[in-house]
Amino acid sequence: MAPVGFGRKPNASSPKWEPLKSGPVAFATLRILLESVRRGRETGMEDLPTDKAFTLIEPGPVVLVTTNDGHKDNVMTISWTMVLDFTAKFAITTGAWNHSYAALTRTKECVIAIPTVDLLDIVVGVGTCSGNDTDKFATFGLTRVKANYVRAPLIAECLANIECRVVDIVGRHGIVVLQGISAHIDGARQEKRLIHAIGDGTFVEDGRRFDRRAAMQSKLPSV
Ligand SMILES: Cc1cc2nc3c(=O)[nH]c(=O)nc-3n(C[C@H](O)[C@H](O)[C@H](O)COP(=O)(O)O)c2cc1C
Repeated sequence: MAPVGFGRKPNASSPKWEPLKSGPVAFATLRILLESVRRGRETGMEDLPTDKAFTLIEPGPVVLVTTNDGHKDNVMTISWTMVLDFTAKFAITTGAWNHSYAALTRTKECVIAIPTVDLLDIVVGVGTCSGNDTDKFATFGLTRVKANYVRAPLIAECLANIECRVVDIVGRHGIVVLQGISAHIDGARQEKRLIHAIGDGTFVEDGRRFDRRAAMQSKLPSV
């Protein structure tokens, strides 16, 4: 079989590998390949497809985001999160294809609930069905707890919950900026390991904790 990049892959209309016809495109492809091999030999690093690069910058823990649209509660899974500052400002990436988005944009409220590794299958289940046609709290046996300031519920099974207000939406990039206004943690919970999504359907759990607080003192907020 011809190596990838040197010809056209077999497909339904053309079931055999077809070699590239010589010409400027074939030469350009060959040059890129040779350059990549040369660089690999020099640096000891292989090229990684750019569309896989996001898996290297592992996002913070996978979270559940609850909303209430005025009629019913809903919950979705979010792995693309970002901390914006120490005041508890966060961003999540999502969009109008999710049922939760309408509630987020209309009510401008939500709760970020932080699940632990024992809840992994629930986290995946919640993130693979829609509040459009599913009562996810009933389906996944999640217990609602009334929040202090928002209509969206806290989730009792989670390690922590952050009540948030939507303070900005950058629609072009699907970025929803959230200001945390009240946070709750279940300190008595035995399982505290959070879940991190790689982005390819695999996950890692929190491992060893390293203490560098003394060295980082000038960069940490005073507590
Ligand atoms: C592990 C995991 C991570 C996910 N991360 C995101 C994410 O960061 N942003 C997003 O829009 N959807 C994400 N999803 C998909 C949503 O959770 C999914 O579309 C969900 O069904 C939406 O629910 P809703 O339609 O009730 O709002 C993720 C799903 C899984 C399983």
